[in-house]
Amino acid sequence: MIRIKVLVCGFTLLVMGAGSAYADDFGKELYESNCAACHGDDGTALLPGTPHFSRGERLEKTDAELMESIVSGLKIMPPWAGIMSEKELEDCLAYLRLLGPAANSNSSDNGDDED
Ligand code: HEC
Repeated sequence: MIRIKVLVCGFTLLVMGAGSAYADDFGKELYESNCAACHGDDGTALLPGTPHFSRGERLEKTDAELMESIVSGLKIMPPWAGIMSEKELEDCLAYLRLLGPAANSNSSDNGDDED
């Protein structure tokens, strides 16, 4: 038990120390444990019929549209309302946007980087 605690603490420190993008790291955790089973760790879909975020599929939609799908569910995807808070889902969305090609090739409008 103590060992687990130490690991968790160490990990938390690592995550918090790793950079200023706390929300992205937090979103990564949530995404990998809740969404990656279908959408893949790197956004390459594992389940047939699931969009490949790594290819930018669906990422042309607005955050509001995507949040609506995530919260209410979309066909095979279950609704996430009540399972995670809206803030956590927003973090997942922020993270999954980073998996798309646009996040890498078109970073000019990525204005919210502090430091
Ligand atoms: C059980 C598998 C599964 C899981 C788990 C899952 N998804 Fe999905 N997701 C899908 C499928 C399938 C679609 C495509 C639905 C369709 O359009 O037919 C989808 C679509 C989406 C879309 C595109 C929505 C749109 O409007 O086009 C987003 C964004 C998304 N998922 C985010 C998430 C997030 C965030 C999580 C974790 C909180 C998650 N998904 C977990 C299966 C899953």
